[in-house]
Amino acid sequence: MKKIPASDIDLFTDQSLADPYPLYQELRDLGAVVEIERNGMYAFPRYREVREASGNWQVFTSAKGVMMNDQVNSALEGVTLCSDPPEHTRMRQVLGRPMRPEKLRELTPRVEQEAERVVERLVGQGSFDAATELAERLPLDIVSELVGLGNAGRAHMLEWAAATFDAQGPMNPRTIAALPKMDEMVAFALNEAKPGTLKPNGWAAQLYAAAEQGDLPVEKCPFMTIDYIAPSLDTTIYAISSAIHLFARNPEQWDVLRADPSLVPHAINEALRLESPVQRFTRLLTQDSEIDGYPLPAGSRVVLLYGSANRDERKYPDPDRFDVRRKPSDHLAFGRGEHVCIGMNLARIEMRALLEALLPRVSRFELLKAEPALNNTLRGLGTCRVRVSRHSGSGGVEARRRRR
Ligand code: HEM
Repeated sequence: MKKIPASDIDLFTDQSLADPYPLYQELRDLGAVVEIERNGMYAFPRYREVREASGNWQVFTSAKGVMMNDQVNSALEGVTLCSDPPEHTRMRQVLGRPMRPEKLRELTPRVEQEAERVVERLVGQGSFDAATELAERLPLDIVSELVGLGNAGRAHMLEWAAATFDAQGPMNPRTIAALPKMDEMVAFALNEAKPGTLKPNGWAAQLYAAAEQGDLPVEKCPFMTIDYIAPSLDTTIYAISSAIHLFARNPEQWDVLRADPSLVPHAINEALRLESPVQRFTRLLTQDSEIDGYPLPAGSRVVLLYGSANRDERKYPDPDRFDVRRKPSDHLAFGRGEHVCIGMNLARIEMRALLEALLPRVSRFELLKAEPALNNTLRGLGTCRVRVSRHSGSGGVEARRRRR
């Protein structure tokens, strides 16, 4: 069998987090499996292995945590993300109820209205920060209200979410700094987010109602509340501002989309492929395995590098190019298999509503300032200031909406 290549790269310096792509290229060139010496783990940097591991929970378990440090892996034990079937299936079935297609259909007009309102106001300003003023509004105003934590929870959701993803890194200063905030969120979920304080009929309250009906043990409810708090905001927020950033840097792609708004769902996939908001989760190997001729022992922790897999040249020709006609619906930004993102359709509705509101109004985004938001797990922008050139006519998008 082949010897696993080793790398001493550090994926977590400020510079690596700001621009991980040259490092990912280096890892993909080294092999399908690479030992990341400084983290004591193995990485899968290519598409095929990330996809296969995501679809094989029996060998690549999530039940021992999917983060890069033991402390957070044990703190979050019991959340849906960190479990395997059959326990996982039972929790996921309840967790996904508010995101069923009929529920999302009901929600869509409200998301679209809010998107129109936000975009109309920002475009009227002439310039705005897409990372905050544009991208945060729908997740914060709509999703946090749907979860229904009440004012105390809502005020903290954004900082808890960012901290939870930061705390998923290896034990570096960024992780250590984030731990108290993550603990605060866990304590809130355990002690305060209870029926009575939760918005009646909100997503979190529905978990307790399901427990009362015997659909799941009540002690699972606080952890499943975390499943709604942590991944529903920053992920989508970063996806939105990265898309705007891509269009600002590739104005001809905005022209293509304006000429053919039916490409919006593909443009969303392409933006997610190129700038995957979740860059990595891990798995633990349950048995000795052979991956592309490399021996991996049981007990190894493997990092699935979504952000690298989605730029694998073996899978996507000219992978660094943003091309809204590419149609990469098999990208891995939402994962695959049992744990595929439960909120992906909600995220898509939010992204689509904003792009469709922007298309008829904006003919160009001029990038004024962009700064990355450095996070141990997520990739996105802290600032994405753009000036917009306005378009006064109503384009094909409006016409298509009216037909729906
Ligand atoms: C663009 C936005 C989003 C991205 C890129 C994203 C990414 C991901 C990824 C990669 C996974 C797979 C985890 C794994 O395989 O271990 C995942 C799972 C998950 N996501 Fe998302 N997510 C997004 C939005 C959301 C939203 C809006 C919600 C909630 C409303 C959400 C809730 C979840 C939950 C609960 C899981 C765990 C599912 C399970 O373990 O079965 N996500 N997400």
